[in-house]
Amino acid sequence: MEVMEALKGRQSVKSYLPKAVEPEKLEKVLEAGRLAPSAFNHQYRRFIVVDDPAVKRLLREKAGAQPMIEQAPVVLVLCATAETEFTMPCGEKNYPIDAALCGAYMMLEAYEQGLGTCWLGAFDAEAVKDVLGIPAQTRVVTMIPLGYHDGTQERKSRKTLAEIVGHNRY
Ligand SMILES: Cc1cc2nc3c(=O)[nH]c(=O)nc-3n(C[C@H](O)[C@H](O)[C@H](O)COP(=O)(O)O)c2cc1C
Repeated sequence: MEVMEALKGRQSVKSYLPKAVEPEKLEKVLEAGRLAPSAFNHQYRRFIVVDDPAVKRLLREKAGAQPMIEQAPVVLVLCATAETEFTMPCGEKNYPIDAALCGAYMMLEAYEQGLGTCWLGAFDAEAVKDVLGIPAQTRVVTMIPLGYHDGTQERKSRKTLAEIVGHNRY
């Protein structure tokens, strides 16, 4: 699959079929996250694979009861493990950017594997840490449901290039 095909085809999937994710497909999604770049190549990352229905139920409670967390067969919890206070010379913290790149790579590989995903930011990170036994200094950047979608997803629009691109000046 061409990268552009995946970029155009991927969408946030919010409704999942009760169908398991094959282990080899899950492995490829995790591998895509492993390959993502990071500041200084530090790779301060840990991916938690949640497929226990009881644990998913608890995670859903910590995320505004979003049904997809329980519905999807797998939830990937992306964590930044260290140096979360480090700020790059550009003024931005590196950890959410590093984790977002992992998540983006994973979501695109999932699409290639015929799987749906949705980046989630609406959750209580401290409560999620309690559920999963995540150390205090570690940050939970996102939870990503992973599974087969039911094909009913509405496609979202994007701004045009003319609206978002500047040439030589803002
Ligand atoms: C940083 C971030 C946080 C998001 N948080 C949520 C969320 O908590 N719940 C949800 O249903 N969708 C969430 N989304 C999905 C967005 O709503 C979705 O990406 C956007 O509407 C564009 O739709 P598309 O991904 O299908 O193109 C999030 C996306 C991003 C990038």
